[in-house]
Amino acid sequence: MQYFKRIVDLHKYLSQARSNGLTIGFAPTMGALHAGHMSLIHDSKLENDITICSIFVNPTQFNDPADLEKYPRTVAEDLDLLYDHACDVVFVPTVLEIYPPDGISSPDFDFEGLTDVMEGAFRPGHFAGVAQVVYRLLNIVRPDRLYMGQKDYQQWTIIHRMLEQLQLPIDLVMVTTVREPDGLAMSSRNRRLDPDIRMQAPVLYQALSEILEALMEGNKDYRALENNAKEKILAAGLEPEYVQIADGYTLQPAHPAKPSKRLVVCVAAWAGEVRLIDNLFLDQ
Ligand code: PAJ
Repeated sequence: MQYFKRIVDLHKYLSQARSNGLTIGFAPTMGALHAGHMSLIHDSKLENDITICSIFVNPTQFNDPADLEKYPRTVAEDLDLLYDHACDVVFVPTVLEIYPPDGISSPDFDFEGLTDVMEGAFRPGHFAGVAQVVYRLLNIVRPDRLYMGQKDYQQWTIIHRMLEQLQLPIDLVMVTTVREPDGLAMSSRNRRLDPDIRMQAPVLYQALSEILEALMEGNKDYRALENNAKEKILAAGLEPEYVQIADGYTLQPAHPAKPSKRLVVCVAAWAGEVRLIDNLFLDQ
């Protein structure tokens, strides 16, 4: 496995690979890697000659400084896991490498309402930071395919819009959410859950699954379904921030009068000190 800290060295390696006609798959991460991240590596390896994973805890996407400080950093274990999964290249830049004081700024994107709802509403500035870092990383790596998880459905949708706006020839692949056996979506933040609340955390997946079943049965009382789910989550001892049944493309609240080709059900809740998100979607 090749390991790079500096952009110049990574560039040399990748331009050599490109001139040999090799295709590049890219999975950006913030480390504290788990089986969900490995699923991105797995899919990329199937579809590309070279798979590159970046590990960079991006300060500009943390609206809460305490969250940035407590974000788990486990680079040694991460490297072992990537090595075990035969990832070809790992890029672990410093903050100065990604954000040099004399660096040019990223373009301003217009995400047309995608960033005003759900995560965007509860974490002001979060998606501007995500778009900024993904833009910079894509400029550095210039992959053929970009691998991102369904787990962060809104993030995926926003990056999809960004690629469209930039007219970049990069395929964005959505990788299905990997879950623990009890249904809890794998997340780097799960390591910080207290054992008691960890036992209750699968309620998020249960609540989402119940809504999905109701939707499949034709229930269109979206707001009542959301409220029932919130109550279920509260009763389990977690604190819901939102449960939202939304149009899967515009991310605006779904309405029975406006049919959607895809409905996505998204949830964010506090499990003690840890904020968790999850979602399920239904194509119709
Ligand atoms: P991070 O939370 O480390 O996630 C990196 C990628 O792994 C994202 O595309 C995320 O959706 C995916 N992922 C996380 N948990 C997953 C799971 N259980 N199953 C499948 N995929 C999962 O998302 C970020 O980092 C950052 O915002 C980033 C895009 C790297 C920009 O800083």
